Amino acid sequence: MGEDPASQVYVRNKKLACEYIGINSFEYLLPESTTQKELIELIEKLNNDDTVSGILCQLPVPEHINEEAVINAIDPKKDVDAFHPVNVGRIMTGNYDFVPCTPAGVMELINESGIDVSGKECVVVGRSNIVGKPMSMLLLHKNGTVTICHSKTQNLAEKTRNADILVAAVGIANFIKGDMIKPGAVVIDVGINRIAPKVLVGDVEFESAKDVAAAITPVPGGVGPMTVAMLMKNTLKAAEINKTK
Ligand code: GUN
Repeated sequence: MGEDPASQVYVRNKKLACEYIGINSFEYLLPESTTQKELIELIEKLNNDDTVSGILCQLPVPEHINEEAVINAIDPKKDVDAFHPVNVGRIMTGNYDFVPCTPAGVMELINESGIDVSGKECVVVGRSNIVGKPMSMLLLHKNGTVTICHSKTQNLAEKTRNADILVAAVGIANFIKGDMIKPGAVVIDVGINRIAPKVLVGDVEFESAKDVAAAITPVPGGVGPMTVAMLMKNTLKAAEINKTK
């Protein structure tokens, strides 16, 4: 809904990924003036449409829309973002079909790089519902020892310097400096911060971090494309689940 410039880029990338792998995607670009009732009616129509496997509402929604009501309106079986409380709860228990796309992308990077999480000190900086909280659960399911840090954490650098695997998801440009990282750590930067019209940087100060870390993801180009790839994976899963309905 509306004209958020970042959302326009994200939606475009998602549509391109669908096209690339052969998933039909339909964009409903609703004007800012759309009411919550109209938006939820559209979601319900898509919930009941057997030709639709997955639904997502790109966030943020305008201020007059209750984000929670919108998320709750999506059929959990079609919730390819895994934002519905049913899917959030299933992440806690470990019995899930859909994994939130960004944390799923981070896990894929870790696994594909041959990094074993079991027993490692994992520090997640950020506690959002979309990234920090589910990220911590996924690392815990892999037997990591997980610490969640946030804006009220005292002695943050002491905590981050303890991390074998450090995930930065605070949304503050260049927040984690090289001297906050343990030599040889794996550093995953979830931040996408626009500091000038065409300049994106992460939450980690790449220049000071790259020589301290054993492995580090760049911004742009690291976690971002993985998020879209995981959305495609969830959509395929949704197609499989809804086929047997
Ligand atoms: N806005 C920012 N990130 C996301 C996301 O992963 N999904 C949706 N639907 N909106 C977002």
